[in-house]
Amino acid sequence: MIGAKLIKWFKQNKRDLPWRNTTDPYKVWLSEIILQQTRVAQGMPYYMAFVKTFPTVFDLAKAPEQKVLKLWQGLGYYSRARNLHTAAKEVVKNYKGIFPSEFEELKKLKGVGDYTAAAISSFCFNKPQAVVDGNVYRVLARLFAIDTPINSTEGKKQFALLAQELVDKKNAGAYNQAIMEFGALYCTPHKPNCEACVFYDTCLSGLAGKALNYPIKIASKKVTTRYFEYFVIISNKNTYTQKRTESDIWKNLHQFPLLEYAEKPTDTGVLEQLKKEILKTKTNNFEIIKQTAYKKHQLSHQTIYARFTYINAKKFTNPNYKQTSLKQLKKLPLPILLANEIVDL
Ligand code: ADE
Repeated sequence: MIGAKLIKWFKQNKRDLPWRNTTDPYKVWLSEIILQQTRVAQGMPYYMAFVKTFPTVFDLAKAPEQKVLKLWQGLGYYSRARNLHTAAKEVVKNYKGIFPSEFEELKKLKGVGDYTAAAISSFCFNKPQAVVDGNVYRVLARLFAIDTPINSTEGKKQFALLAQELVDKKNAGAYNQAIMEFGALYCTPHKPNCEACVFYDTCLSGLAGKALNYPIKIASKKVTTRYFEYFVIISNKNTYTQKRTESDIWKNLHQFPLLEYAEKPTDTGVLEQLKKEILKTKTNNFEIIKQTAYKKHQLSHQTIYARFTYINAKKFTNPNYKQTSLKQLKKLPLPILLANEIVDL
């Protein structure tokens, strides 16, 4: 069994991380949601800020969503923040503020799937539920040289079954943290430390000199390109914003008036649409002060090219946008692309 070796390795090599010095399910849950698709170094300051601002699940549950989103600003995948807030309210309303300990019960919480439910139930309550995250996929695929793609339906099933067979049922919390830490520090995606590996003489892919060939993945969906033209409209020292409400990226974050294109637009095309749909004018009673170059913003499945056009408009009334002072603007939750644009304003 691999458990004893992993746990021994973990005791000697684990990083001292703040969410490891607690079995408070609120803090473990918070850390796990923050760390999804996020490196520890990037997630750490967000974790510290959340624990400080919302010391308990009650504090998080009663906060306005805009405050939660503002604290999340820059971390991406904003549905995680909206779900986090919803789940906090569920814990308060349905469980009197006390997190359930059972895997199936935890999964009823918004945004809590198999991985997070297994993490909370094992780390905090030592329940014998295996976690399966990217690290676990990689470690198992390499140890057993498994050729099934990890992102296929069959692969997900196969790896979940194997992980559940291997979990040390008496020490599931330590085992789960150990296998993830081992994947994060030793059995890394591009430079695995095979020479110093505790499984040097048993790892099937390592013995064949093929660790880097694992895990196998099938090509995922292709990346789409979008062109965003933002307009920073200045009128009487104020600017104008709107809240994104569609089920698209950045839902419930705020933005400047925006025109969007699937292909690179022409300047005259943009100008015409700006006048018709945003400025609501047929004349040229406005002045373009400056225009930035396109900035590339890479999301997991979208490449966004965005630029900002600054406009002086003496009169601007469009009910779709809200007058916003610079001070107000800096308090709103904004896509990081916009937050970076306004730092010097
Ligand atoms: N990545 C996801 N969960 C983690 C955890 N608990 N510790 C370190 N890295 C992680």
